[in-house]
Amino acid sequence: MIEIKHLQKSFGEKHVLKDVNLTIEKGKTTCILGGSGSGKSTLIKCLIGLLETTGGQILVDGRDITKIKSEMKLAAVRRRFGYLFQEGALFDSMTVGENVTFGLKYLTDVPEADYPKIIKEKLALVGLKEEVAKLNPSELSGGMKKRVSLARVLAVEPEVILYDEPTTGLDPIMSDIISDLIIDLKNKLGVTSVVITHDMHSAFKIADKIAFLYEGNMLLQGTPDEFRKTDNPYVKQFVAGSSKGPIQMKLMKE
Ligand SMILES: Nc1ncnc2c1ncn2[C@@H]1O[C@H](COP(=O)(O)OP(=O)(O)OP(=O)(O)O)[C@@H](O)[C@H]1O
Ligand SMILES: [Mg+2]
Repeated sequence: MIEIKHLQKSFGEKHVLKDVNLTIEKGKTTCILGGSGSGKSTLIKCLIGLLETTGGQILVDGRDITKIKSEMKLAAVRRRFGYLFQEGALFDSMTVGENVTFGLKYLTDVPEADYPKIIKEKLALVGLKEEVAKLNPSELSGGMKKRVSLARVLAVEPEVILYDEPTTGLDPIMSDIISDLIIDLKNKLGVTSVVITHDMHSAFKIADKIAFLYEGNMLLQGTPDEFRKTDNPYVKQFVAGSSKGPIQMKLMKE
């Protein structure tokens, strides 16, 4: 569905993405792994057109979206993508229900009379009861906030969901519940998922394909099994979470 070819993105002299190649298949879950500052969020932002690329192509259904100049046409592509922010980014001044329908109000012409039905349906998809709609985000736990954010993404019925670190900051059990939810949504709705994560346990569980971003290139792409068995010393170190190996973290600002 999405083909990223020789993608480059620089910020001035800083070449964050040098030659990124990745195929994202329809209805599958692709996990993107990589160290802090390796450019994972930059890649996702290029995908939804929030950042202008400096080279290469991003083909969505065969069409290069990096060449689209018209705001209206770009907005039409963006509508097909749902973006789950790392922080959840719920609006504290609105109820859960208002948060869930926020995108509907601004992006669609769905009549307001349909909102209660949609709120109920989307909350059910993420395993929450209808009563939660009346609460304020401040009354929710971290795991519930993630679910509500996901319900808000689902409300606009995207074809592709981009998750930026969906399990970060959650306890291991809640992380696993969120992983199950990602699998469940794939099976129920057939959505295409792209998941940025540091959580190896989650990646191995949910991914059809894993891609490892390192120094501006996709160092390895493959099935979870291929990742477990790889001889690549960089990937092995990352998967093991070890400070010993070829990857040297840059602790000082270059
Ligand atoms: N708008 C920007 N202007 C300049 N440099 C930027 C900008 N956005 C990102 N960068 C730089 O690009 C690099 C990659 O950042 P990015 O946020 O994509 O990393 P990441 O892999 O998502 O990291 P993390 O795992 O910590 O979220 C960093 O060195 C960052 O400083
Ligand atoms: Mg990031």
